[in-house]
Amino acid sequence: MRTVEIAFVGTGGIAGLHAASLDPRTRLVAVAEVVDELREAFARKWNVPRAYASLDAMLEVERPDLVHLCTPPGVHHDQAIACLERGIKVLCEKPPALSLSEMDSLATFDGFATVSQHRFGAGAVGLRELVAGGNARLGRPMTAVCHTLWYRPDAYFDPPWRGSWEHEGGGPTMGHGIHQMDTMLSILGRWESVVAVATRRARPTATEDLSHAIVTLENGCVASVINSLLSPRETSYLRFDFEYATVELTHLYGYGDDNWAVTSDDPSLAPLLRGRGSGHSTQFAAVVDALLAGEPLPVAAADARDTLELIAAIYMSSYLGRPVHRGEIGPDSPFYHRMDGGFGVATSP
Ligand SMILES: NC(=O)c1ccc[n+]([C@@H]2O[C@H](COP(=O)([O-])OP(=O)(O)OC[C@H]3O[C@@H](n4cnc5c(N)ncnc54)[C@H](O)[C@@H]3O)[C@@H](O)[C@H]2O)c1
Repeated sequence: MRTVEIAFVGTGGIAGLHAASLDPRTRLVAVAEVVDELREAFARKWNVPRAYASLDAMLEVERPDLVHLCTPPGVHHDQAIACLERGIKVLCEKPPALSLSEMDSLATFDGFATVSQHRFGAGAVGLRELVAGGNARLGRPMTAVCHTLWYRPDAYFDPPWRGSWEHEGGGPTMGHGIHQMDTMLSILGRWESVVAVATRRARPTATEDLSHAIVTLENGCVASVINSLLSPRETSYLRFDFEYATVELTHLYGYGDDNWAVTSDDPSLAPLLRGRGSGHSTQFAAVVDALLAGEPLPVAAADARDTLELIAAIYMSSYLGRPVHRGEIGPDSPFYHRMDGGFGVATSP
């Protein structure tokens, strides 16, 4: 079996987790990082043979099978395009793009995928398959809860890219709750409409630090979503109430089998959600499987777009004070080009 050659762009916080989570069938052959000390220390620590001061310098020399973009969100689009234009596949950290406009530009290429590691644990995979198969033991999905109740102090926003519409594309709705919302949608299917409030209560940001949304899915299920950076007792919580069973996931930044709870008269359901935990290594293994099989990478642009469109709709609903429907945000809408639609600082309602 051939070894998949990988390069990283950005060697900050998340890149260390990427390096520690690489699949055994891959080899990290190069990194690009603008900060000299970070680049050198990372290359030393992870035994990376070649290190470059920019993506452009790297692409003049390297042709890896896959580039992991571990850079801040504001550069994801342009860096992804630079790789894709050269036929190099891209696995991009979330959020994949700053706007639907950028996302649609990425979707014109094959080979762009987004990191969404919570989709890949056995619980999410098992539940997704049960729901997609119309499982009679679960019944129809009735209601759902999707909470990302996290805490980030003011100092978290010291790096200049954090907390700005221009560089991060939003607050916890875009940067943190995206994981839970993406996992929920991957299980329940497409959303149809949303009513939301996004506001800044405390943090020194230009974006919201709190949002609440009521999301109606195409299948009629109604979900209550909260994305917060103001919650001292942190939790990530997903709850699915089907006709005949409740399925809950309670965790923080990743889950194992024991984070899932099934309430049902049918004892055969719970074992279907057990196997392996979530995490970057689980997604990376699925990405390498797809690469070696010549298949599309999981969480391709079209798949990730659904979640990004919901996020844009949450912001639009909050700014305009009305429900927003799927498909409403086209190129003529300011919310297609910027998540804040050009309105700027999120204010309290
Ligand atoms: N999937 C997850 O659970 C998860 C968790 C944390 C962060 N993230 C995402 O990962 C990305 C990076 O976050 P982080 O916390 O590692 O940030 P970070 O600031 O620690 O690291 C980013 C690195 O990119 C470098 N960089 C910036 N611009 C560059 C450029 N043009 N070319 C090359 N290098 C450049 C910076 O110098 C820095 O070292 C963000 O999109 C973030 O949302 C994802």
